[in-house]
Amino acid sequence: MTLEPIAVTTPSRVPENAKPASWERKHLLGLEDLSREEIESILATAESFGEISTRSRKKVPALLGRVVFNLFFENSTRTRTSFSLAAKRLSADTQDFTASASSLSKGESFIDTAKNIEAMGADVMVVRHPTPGAPHLLAQHVGASIINAGDGAHEHPTQALLDILTIRRAKGRIEGLTVGLVGDISHSRVARSNIWGLTKLGARVILCGPPTLVPRRLEQLGCEIAYRLDDVLPRLDVVNVLRIQFERDQRAVFPSIAEYFRLFGMTQERIRRGKPDLLLLAPGPINRGVELTPEVADGPHSAILDQVTNGLAVRMAVLYLLSGKSDAHGPTLD
Ligand code: CP
Repeated sequence: MTLEPIAVTTPSRVPENAKPASWERKHLLGLEDLSREEIESILATAESFGEISTRSRKKVPALLGRVVFNLFFENSTRTRTSFSLAAKRLSADTQDFTASASSLSKGESFIDTAKNIEAMGADVMVVRHPTPGAPHLLAQHVGASIINAGDGAHEHPTQALLDILTIRRAKGRIEGLTVGLVGDISHSRVARSNIWGLTKLGARVILCGPPTLVPRRLEQLGCEIAYRLDDVLPRLDVVNVLRIQFERDQRAVFPSIAEYFRLFGMTQERIRRGKPDLLLLAPGPINRGVELTPEVADGPHSAILDQVTNGLAVRMAVLYLLSGKSDAHGPTLD
């Protein structure tokens, strides 16, 4: 009996224009470090990769043989799953590390844990940690590329990149727009990364919330501060509503949730008083009835689920750009 040869299909190709002319960085630790040109390169690469997710076969061989580890020391729905899916779409091997089920409970350190994971062949580590600077520390101790997936209240660069991509897709530009970040700015890594990214691309950023949650010192980053949403609402092209992070601060930072909602909640009434094309973003998880109503979350101004879709493209772009820079396991891909 003769065996039929196994059919080998030609893998789908990475879009021609996916790779910018030069990309030198090995890690993505925050948007504070990035130039305007680097941010634009990631956005352009994400635009190219967005197309892959519309194909019937949503996979390209760009990172075939590469290993991407998710190291999450805090809970996550969107960031962890979209990094995992993004790596799979690029044909990388992916592995999740769950801190609560690990040998950290037996006294193993953060660095020793990461070194053990690197010894299994990790080329890229996607790290979320409650301590600001944890991914930066890791970058000094392992050879793999490190991606910051949120470090305490410091930065969440891929969230800001997907927010910016979502705004640019809806508005056609970032330069000259006025973007309101409303809510718990104090504890928000999303706010900090958005401030860096948006101001570098020429947007005006207004931080708005109760004085206990909006530190005046953030004016130094080139932002305007407002304590009354209704005063600034008519000027906003985009409003990004940030969750109150009750888990990070047990103090009574405002009298009650009802009072917060009355002053800062995005309602249909406030949508009506905003610009006709006001774009509403929220990084998630959202708390319906606290920072926005269900009607607003699900309404025509909301781009909340577009953010999630764009997050996948952004994370594919970041993995693609950084993956060739790891010196952990021999020659680079590019
Ligand atoms: N926006 C965001 O970071 O969501 P997760 O905490 O679910 O990852």
